[in-house]
Amino acid sequence: MKDSYYFDNAATTWPKPEPVYTFMDSFFRSHGVNPGRSGSMQAVEAEQMIFSTRRMIAEFFGHRGDPNRVIFTLNATDSLNIALRGLLGEGDHLIVSQLDHNAVRRTANHFERDFGVAVTVVAPCDKGYLDPDQIKSAMTDDTRVIVLNHASNVTGTVQDLDAISSIAKARGVALVVDTAQTAGVLPIDMSCGIDILTFTGHKGLFGPMGIGGLIVREGLALKPMRFGGTGVDSASPFQPDTFPHALEAGTLSMSGVAGLNAAQKWFVELGKNHNAKADSHQQYCTAAIHHIHETEMQHANRIWSHLATLEKVKTLGSLSDGEHIAVVSFTVEDMTAQQIAEMLDADYHVCVRAGLQCAPGVHQVFGTTEAGGAVRVSPGYFTESTEVDHLLSALSELLS
Ligand SMILES: Cc1ncc(COP(=O)(O)O)c(C=O)c1O
Repeated sequence: MKDSYYFDNAATTWPKPEPVYTFMDSFFRSHGVNPGRSGSMQAVEAEQMIFSTRRMIAEFFGHRGDPNRVIFTLNATDSLNIALRGLLGEGDHLIVSQLDHNAVRRTANHFERDFGVAVTVVAPCDKGYLDPDQIKSAMTDDTRVIVLNHASNVTGTVQDLDAISSIAKARGVALVVDTAQTAGVLPIDMSCGIDILTFTGHKGLFGPMGIGGLIVREGLALKPMRFGGTGVDSASPFQPDTFPHALEAGTLSMSGVAGLNAAQKWFVELGKNHNAKADSHQQYCTAAIHHIHETEMQHANRIWSHLATLEKVKTLGSLSDGEHIAVVSFTVEDMTAQQIAEMLDADYHVCVRAGLQCAPGVHQVFGTTEAGGAVRVSPGYFTESTEVDHLLSALSELLS
């Protein structure tokens, strides 16, 4: 038995591609100066690395406008706060869903309680999909924003971005898409009608923790929620209104950006092996993403099919219900999710996530709150099929 069988890639992907570790280390050693704050060669080169990462991320998500509208933040939570604070004010109406992670749910609750924003929570169907017509019916004259969880971190169900974005567009409502679970796993093109795309670096984008971002479509204004130094326009008493400085106050995580930079190049190299005819960063990355998704879904399908043979096990939804990412959650009769996760860890060195997964609304939909939530298994691109074999026999031993 190995020391660890990692099946918690929905929490964070691990391990990362080797060049991410090596480039972060080497760049921090050679260019660990404050980018944008001095004119030294090192600082200028650090700034160039950051700009080239903005450009790659912009292309990765099909943002065809100014790369400076790619804003770096701490993580998806930070990005969602910046997006919602920047768009909403007292008297506005916000539509969220019961599938949302606490990064959206708690933020929306605080907006409702503290800032006078009205919030409607739309429920998904019992399989975990949102009905675009229900979102349409929830709209009022005051609706300013719809936040959409592209894929649930509990059920792995993927929402219909095209249908929901056309509803938002028709009413002039901003669509904010939380891609925490899908960036790097499914191809996403902002031109389908996304106004703000939020991402986190440490999951499917294969970067480190502590870096995330948002992309604000060309022409959309966003009020800053943080104020401070930017390295430009220092005499101005207020935050500059040009991007990215309007939304990036204080020193960036340059090592985090370096990790994302190396990961983007890794996507391109992987894509080259899967679509030799591609001729842009986005096309190479899309080829890599298709390959990653296919690999992960092979593992997920094996896990899901095996769980379906175990008598006391109930999965949250089914991989055959509609579009899915490689996230499988289940409950077991007469056992709590925590008990199962502890036994998997202690006896089989298998790492999964048990509980509510920061998304209590999903457990209300599936009736799994009382049982302490569910066990979530999330294989990743670097999961080996022998590791899946080990997981399946551990589950059989434990649960049959
Ligand atoms: C769907 C979803 N949204 C937001 C987040 C928050 O991401 P972060 O912790 O990187 O801010 C997560 C993390 O699990 C998530 O799964």
